[in-house]
Amino acid sequence: MKYRTLGRDLTVSAISLGCMGMTHAFGAPSDTKEMTKRIHEAVELGYTMFDTAECYTGTLPDGSTAYNEELVGAALAPYREKVVIATKCGVQHAPNGLITDSRPETIRKSVEGSLRRLGTDYIDLYYQHRIDPDVEPETVAETMSQLMKEGKIRYWGISEANEEYLRRAHAVCPVTAVQNRYSMMARWHESLFCTLEELHIGYVAFSPLANGFLSAKYDEKSKFEQGTDYRSSMPQFSAEGVKQNRELLALLEKVGEEKHATPAQISLAWMLCKRPSLVAIPGTRKSERLRENAGAAEIELSPEELAHIDCALNHMEMSAVFGGAKIIK
Ligand SMILES: NC(=O)c1ccc[n+]([C@@H]2O[C@H](COP(=O)([O-])OP(=O)(O)OC[C@H]3O[C@@H](n4cnc5c(N)ncnc54)[C@H](OP(=O)(O)O)[C@@H]3O)[C@@H](O)[C@H]2O)c1
Repeated sequence: MKYRTLGRDLTVSAISLGCMGMTHAFGAPSDTKEMTKRIHEAVELGYTMFDTAECYTGTLPDGSTAYNEELVGAALAPYREKVVIATKCGVQHAPNGLITDSRPETIRKSVEGSLRRLGTDYIDLYYQHRIDPDVEPETVAETMSQLMKEGKIRYWGISEANEEYLRRAHAVCPVTAVQNRYSMMARWHESLFCTLEELHIGYVAFSPLANGFLSAKYDEKSKFEQGTDYRSSMPQFSAEGVKQNRELLALLEKVGEEKHATPAQISLAWMLCKRPSLVAIPGTRKSERLRENAGAAEIELSPEELAHIDCALNHMEMSAVFGGAKIIK
């Protein structure tokens, strides 16, 4: 594993673990014992940052709620001082989209709930999960600054941040990381890279495999659980999407052959080699994929190889990619 610094001094593994899919959005919640084992395996492989959120919940067969933060907190308890726990506030899932609420009183209530579910007395990296159009960035930053002074959080970040919001928030309380979508199929935030460099803010890339699609292990015959597995309605996994993305998968296979790596590893190595302060957080419930994804940190792509891949990406046909649930408030 390789390690990188987010912001001024938060050191984390270049490939860190997105834990969301263990309870949320990728089918019914997985067995807790099994997922605890997976998190322990990740620690042994050198993963040091674990990503969760207060809203990553799922429904268990008896109708009760599976809280991702409880799973992650309990699994990491034996390693607490050695790992970075990242969680998020400010978003609730509703049947037709996301409800945002970043009022100071809501953030304060959320932080207490997260600390309780995680079973810890501090959160290493606390994100505002989505911009709340009704709350100024300065107000959110001031709340985060107070939480830092109280020792409840160590660093803060913003997910799906834009430049203006980030600059205003950062001026009040330095932001350590943005956590935005980023993959070969979702490159629209590349325009933020220069600003992040200027402000010394790290980039945590979520959905770096386009929800697994860039592993090239799925095709038009892949079946996903309707309702609980969001991939059942993601455009890149539809029969039409798979057809439109043939050239992209062929490129990944070809570069993979040249570099003795898998398509998933090439997808992750591509972004790591582009930005020294970028960290990817692929999610998986499987041991062999934890290892495979970690291996991406060892692959070197030269500036020429990156330019070649980017040029190909710029010119090829691609399907739409899942862009996240819509914000309804
Ligand atoms: N800030 C935000 O708003 C936001 C939004 C979405 C996600 N996130 C964070 O980002 C993390 C990752 O995002 P994501 O889960 O949406 O997308 P992702 O990491 O691009 O893809 C995860 C999916 O890919 C599969 N996968 C992973 N590695 C694989 C490999 N080597 N070969 C084949 N399949 C592989 C996993 O399936 P298996 O489990 O079957 O391996 C899983 O279904 C989440 O866990 C969450 O922490 C944040």
